[in-house]
Amino acid sequence: MLEIGTGTGYNTALLCAGLGDQHVSSIDIDYTEAARQRLASLGYRPVLRTGDGIEGIPDRAPFDRIMATVAVSHIPRAWLDQLVDDGLILADVKLNPAAGNLVLVRKRGEVAEGRFDAGQAWFMDMRHPDQPEPPRASPTSEAPTCTTTSLPAVAWEQPVPWFLACLTNGTPVDVGYRLDDDYQPVAARLTAGDGSWAEIDTAETEPRAVAQAGPTRLWDAVEHAYRRWRDWGEPGWDRFGLTVTAYGEHTVWLDEPGQVVATFAR
Ligand SMILES: C[S@@+](CC[C@H](N)C(=O)[O-])C[C@H]1O[C@@H](n2cnc3c(N)ncnc32)[C@H](O)[C@@H]1O
Repeated sequence: MLEIGTGTGYNTALLCAGLGDQHVSSIDIDYTEAARQRLASLGYRPVLRTGDGIEGIPDRAPFDRIMATVAVSHIPRAWLDQLVDDGLILADVKLNPAAGNLVLVRKRGEVAEGRFDAGQAWFMDMRHPDQPEPPRASPTSEAPTCTTTSLPAVAWEQPVPWFLACLTNGTPVDVGYRLDDDYQPVAARLTAGDGSWAEIDTAETEPRAVAQAGPTRLWDAVEHAYRRWRDWGEPGWDRFGLTVTAYGEHTVWLDEPGQVVATFAR
């Protein structure tokens, strides 16, 4: 079993108790010595490594199970390579803040496939200190398009339609608020890596004012996602699944793998 994100070692201890420490490996990008000492004090000596978990631990592979207690934007190729056939990966796949959930995929040949969890879980994002941050454009100063909406202004508080919207954006999106002089939120704000932005009035009264600018119409993507989601009967996470190929193609589907919602490649 491989755990990604050792942290305190608490979850590693649970894995050691359940499986036996000789069957547990764990990796964290940060210092793992404190976890090692804590685990040793309980009599557990799993393999602990310090490094980027996106690479797995090749010299300990193959693994029957890989569990990530840190959020990833995709299922890394190395994890598929290091998993036995019929093995399972449990990971929090998150495209943007709040846009994703735990998914459990089973490997069969070159493909891993499975469903999102019915509940909602969020881990902190995976960090890659050795990789430069992708460049982000400043918010565009072009004049915005102004419309209105009857949807909730804080789009990221509705995780399923927000996930569907982020699937179509193709650019990283940050979320936040515009504050007034008393530091009270007056608008929910989406900003994208390509300079696009959208602001949605947080007033209680409908319809709410929307302003958006830039090459990616961020609010249009949210409206489109809601229309699809409502047409499908507002499905919860457990009706969605994910198929991942060894070539990095990720397909999100509804109910069964043939009913494709969107694909993305990493
Ligand atoms: C939510 S904590 C994990 C909690 C842990 N399983 C426990 O029981 O305490 C997420 C962990 O992922 C680690 N992390 C972040 N980026 C990582 C990466 N690229 N590779 C491995 N670990 C990473 C963080 O340092 C942090 O310790």
